[in-house]
Amino acid sequence: PIKRLTVPNIITKKGKEPIVSLTAYTTPVAQLMDEHVDLILVGDSLGMVIYGLDTTLSVTTEMMIAHGQAVMRGTQRACVMVDLPFASYQESPQQAFRTASRILQETGAAAVKLEGGEEMAETVEFLTKRNIPVCGHVGLMPQAVQMMGGFKVAGKNDESVQKVIRDSHAIAKAGAFAIVLEGVVEPVAQTITQQIAIPTIGIGASPACDGQVLVCDDIFGVFQGFKPKFVKRYAQVGQTMTEAVQQYAQEVRSRAFPTMEYCFQPNKG
Ligand code: KIV
Ligand code: NA
Repeated sequence: PIKRLTVPNIITKKGKEPIVSLTAYTTPVAQLMDEHVDLILVGDSLGMVIYGLDTTLSVTTEMMIAHGQAVMRGTQRACVMVDLPFASYQESPQQAFRTASRILQETGAAAVKLEGGEEMAETVEFLTKRNIPVCGHVGLMPQAVQMMGGFKVAGKNDESVQKVIRDSHAIAKAGAFAIVLEGVVEPVAQTITQQIAIPTIGIGASPACDGQVLVCDDIFGVFQGFKPKFVKRYAQVGQTMTEAVQQYAQEVRSRAFPTMEYCFQPNKG
């Protein structure tokens, strides 16, 4: 049996080797990345990339649990963490504990991730003191899309720089084991990485971050809704799937499929 990477194993990588992280939402995709990545995030981005929602705001804890279970079934080696969805943790540290503990119990994942800076520090401390490993997420916070009026990069002006630095320090001090820096101007992401003791995991941040994360459907070229600047497409799987559908449709219409090879015959005799 393969030993699964633990939260302490992830922390230890800071200053030694980059942490490789991707999102996953389904068993087959989790399976194919398991031996190649360190940390799998069951992100609430699933609302946008697999459910076709415009934002992550209506993702539910039940959706996160179902996909967390699917990812755990497909993995043996990677450390798995699950996002706390919008409105499942912001009300109080107690609400956050109820949601996070339920997610760990029902999925078997090692940790949860939540969005927020200084205002979430109390909650991060409440969870970590009660043995729930928490990954922070600051900078561009998709669950804050209504307050921000869109998906906005952090650190573009001095006030925003100071805020993302304060937020990162607050979450690290509160006991988070790692922190996602999303959509943070590069020099600021680098500064934060140098200043805090826990690993930073960048997405639209900096090569200096202690790790990198991207949305799996984005790197595969499956999600074609839009492509943020920070997404690098490593494959054109969406194009390949379109071609498969086109060829299938053409063969059904021309009766080229199925040939006898794909049909059952009665027993001889
Ligand atoms: O939900 C998600 O996929 C995320 C990553 C982009 C960090 O939070
Ligand atoms: Na997320």
